[in-house]
Amino acid sequence: MTDGIRIRAFAVEDTEQVVALWHDAGLTRPWNDPRADIARKLAVQPELFLVAVDAQRADVVGTVMAGYDGHRGWLYYLASAAARRGHGIGRALVAEAERLLVELGCPKVQLMVREGNEGVLGFYDALGYERFTVHNSGKRLIHDD
Ligand SMILES: CC(C)(COP(=O)(O)OP(=O)(O)OC[C@H]1O[C@@H](n2cnc3c(N)ncnc32)[C@H](O)[C@@H]1OP(=O)(O)O)[C@@H](O)C(=O)NCCC(=O)NCCS
Repeated sequence: MTDGIRIRAFAVEDTEQVVALWHDAGLTRPWNDPRADIARKLAVQPELFLVAVDAQRADVVGTVMAGYDGHRGWLYYLASAAARRGHGIGRALVAEAERLLVELGCPKVQLMVREGNEGVLGFYDALGYERFTVHNSGKRLIHDD
């Protein structure tokens, strides 16, 4: 555990702090309603949606949303509070997500990085992740408007 930080599963009461953190970290997008993303995650492997909380003040200082689809593990919504970066919160969140994925038998974890967010690749390099290039393609199946 990183000093002064506790990592636990997301709880519904964390919602507003988590949405604010994602917003501040630049992770929200107009086409993704963060509250709908949270609601969906609470229906599928909610135990893999983690928050880092300040052990004293209990406020949310980091998040990661992981999932295992039976072939690969995925990481989404990794963020640490801007004022708390560089103190191991991101590393601790990823380590706990990896531990839970391994418990499920997940052989490999990966993630997508949005174009223009090159900085985060350095973070994952530091954690031993290997870069690879693919073209992503997606299709929205449910429109949330
Ligand atoms: C990415 C992010 C979660 C990293 O969180 P953090 O709490 O600062 O990370 P840590 O302090 O645990 O850093 C872990 C290691 O990565 C290194 N690191 C962090 N950011 C780095 C960067 N941009 N380039 C190179 N190394 C980096 C740290 O130096 C540290 O190395 P060390 O453990 O050997 O000292 C944080 O910068 C963030 O919230 N970014 C905005 C949201 C975002 O882009 N998320 C990713 C979506 S794909």
